[in-house]
Amino acid sequence: MSRFEGKKAVVSGGTHGMGLAVVKALVEGGAEVLLTGRDETKLAAAKELGPRVHAVRCDVTKLDELRSLADTVKTTLGEVDFVHVNTGYAKLLPMELTTEESFDWTFGVNTKGAYFTTQVLAPLVREGGSIVFTTSVANITGIPGMSAYAGSKAAVRSFVKVFAAELLPRGIRVNAVSPGFIDTPSMGVDASAEERVQFQQVGDDTTPMKRHGSPEEVAAAVLFMGFDATFTTAEELIIDGGLAELG
Ligand SMILES: NC(=O)c1ccc[n+]([C@@H]2O[C@H](COP(=O)([O-])OP(=O)(O)OC[C@H]3O[C@@H](n4cnc5c(N)ncnc54)[C@H](OP(=O)(O)O)[C@@H]3O)[C@@H](O)[C@H]2O)c1
Repeated sequence: MSRFEGKKAVVSGGTHGMGLAVVKALVEGGAEVLLTGRDETKLAAAKELGPRVHAVRCDVTKLDELRSLADTVKTTLGEVDFVHVNTGYAKLLPMELTTEESFDWTFGVNTKGAYFTTQVLAPLVREGGSIVFTTSVANITGIPGMSAYAGSKAAVRSFVKVFAAELLPRGIRVNAVSPGFIDTPSMGVDASAEERVQFQQVGDDTTPMKRHGSPEEVAAAVLFMGFDATFTTAEELIIDGGLAELG
């Protein structure tokens, strides 16, 4: 029997990058997956992964869209075994250039989005299921230009602790995976192609392993926390090539 045979999962922000790597690993392992994103072209491409993949448009900053997502999950999958709250956004801006608009958007997607995605989907997680968030090693390091982003992900780390306590009576584990520099199409930042190359170089130089990680390396950690780490809850697993501890 395949590793995820019969399992049902939701991956928010599953159209590219790390979320897509998680979706692919789940589907290859036999799971049925509902993924979300906003871009219609990427959603259509994700549907090509096969009949056990459902791609649904949902902007996590809009509560009505999140409520409608929960209805779709209920009718499409029913109860689920696993939710990966992965949607995220970062704009590289030093404090003096951070506007109210960029601050609000960062917290809207990463913090409010993660909170209310969980609020609407947690009731659909079966007893004994699990939830894994994607935070960021930025929430414990001082990377210049990432103050709003770092704060938005530090809040998610706090949500993990409290949600873990609140969902424990239902046997639901809640954890996070905290990536360092990972080679996704966006590198996790809203930036020009040139800025992204520079950002990647900074990552390769400052990461003790002297390289960036792959989406598949993060996906392996997400699925470990989601399915294998059955005696672990309220934890944040760092996947960063040693950046936080040795950098
Ligand atoms: N890459 C890194 O180095 C890195 C490092 C640490 C942490 N992270 C975090 O890891 C997660 C995944 O990063 P990634 O690099 O794989 O990201 P990515 O490739 O940019 O993918 C982000 C996903 O989120 C979706 N998304 C973005 N804004 C959204 C919104 N408002 N509503 C709904 N969906 C939205 C995107 O879909 P659409 O494009 O269709 O909107 C996409 O599916 C994020 O939380 C990020 O902050 C990344």
